[in-house]
Amino acid sequence: MKQVLVDQSACIGCQMCAQIAPASFQMSEEGVSVALNPPGDSEDILKQAIACCPVECISWLED
Ligand code: F3S
Repeated sequence: MKQVLVDQSACIGCQMCAQIAPASFQMSEEGVSVALNPPGDSEDILKQAIACCPVECISWLED
């Protein structure tokens, strides 16, 4: 199953991922995205969230 990974050192906290895929990304108190695994959104939604990140800091992790 695919997992999602956020590079929190690159995340600028734009919140797009959490708005598009709220069952897979949550904003932390520090204002960066935290990936929820396993992701709760469909692969299509996850692809949209990954594509919308302005700093491209979301990736897949295959296991
Ligand atoms: Fe951060 Fe990108 Fe989401 S900047 S809040 S991981 S859309």
